[in-house]
Amino acid sequence: MKTVIYYFTGTGNSLAAARKIAADLGDCELIPIASLQNTDGNVVPETGRLGIVCPVYDGGVPVMVAEFAGRLDLSRTDYVFAVVTMGGMGISALHQLDGIFRRRQDKRLDAAFAVRMPGNFPPLFRPPSGAKRDEILAAADRHLGEIAEAIGRGRAAQPGFAPISAVMKALTYGPFSRQVHGADRDFSASDACTGCGTCAKVCPAANIEIVDGRPAWSHRCELCCACLHFCPVEAIQFRMLLGTEGRGRYRHPDVKVADMEAQARAVNLHDR
Ligand SMILES: Cc1cc2nc3c(=O)[nH]c(=O)nc-3n(C[C@H](O)[C@H](O)[C@H](O)COP(=O)(O)O)c2cc1C
Ligand code: SF4
Ligand code: SF4
Repeated sequence: MKTVIYYFTGTGNSLAAARKIAADLGDCELIPIASLQNTDGNVVPETGRLGIVCPVYDGGVPVMVAEFAGRLDLSRTDYVFAVVTMGGMGISALHQLDGIFRRRQDKRLDAAFAVRMPGNFPPLFRPPSGAKRDEILAAADRHLGEIAEAIGRGRAAQPGFAPISAVMKALTYGPFSRQVHGADRDFSASDACTGCGTCAKVCPAANIEIVDGRPAWSHRCELCCACLHFCPVEAIQFRMLLGTEGRGRYRHPDVKVADMEAQARAVNLHDR
């Protein structure tokens, strides 16, 4: 049975997760949600199985993903699943997606899964590195194998009861989603910047231009932190909370700048 997986990623975890599921299932098409953000109207996929794979942000899904889910017409799909990748807590993001489908078209997620992967938000937690990072990635890989098996068998799996995650989302996701596009006002590039343009290439929101050899942010940010983590000289800093100076950087070891560019390319073309 053919499977279509829509994904969004900032530092590669969700792309690596989508790839693992695709490899295990076979006959899968991976589509970046970023490529559809400037298109109009409903998206009506005709496929046996459909999945969304994305990170958890402040207990919910990235704003770009929530907007996309609101335009996704599931009437020609038999089985719908969602996988969220998270640093520690995020079942509420699965309830959010389920709620979007239920309210809009009286459909539910057939299966929903949350996978722990390395956290990528240094203003709050230092990303894991070395053996700790590798341990988390190996456990995630095993978990993703089980998830792919469940999806392959067409199993039902509703998101579980998660009161702490729900409270966290209730407190933080509203302000996050209202302010996220302008959150890039807290990014800056230091004198270490070489003007290489990597930050602009990896941004899934086409939110960065290189002006006079430095990144300039355009206030369409998703706060995915790709620019922060993929800068080869760690020139980018983010002022929020504990800041990012000397607090480590993270990206999934199997996801390269070219993969991030592939996610971003379609939106960049739309914008020209
Ligand atoms: C702005 C932001 C908010 C985040 N909020 C949460 C959260 O509420 N719960 C959690 O477990 N992880 C949170 N994380 C961590 C990511 O969900 C996690 O690292 C994810 O796997 C990143 O996926 P990606 O590499 O595909 O972008 C957050 C990360 C960012 C950048
Ligand atoms: S990736 Fe880093 S060095 Fe390259 S332009 Fe952006 S901020 Fe400057
Ligand atoms: S500007 Fe940086 S944090 Fe914002 S969407 Fe682009 S890459 Fe992500």
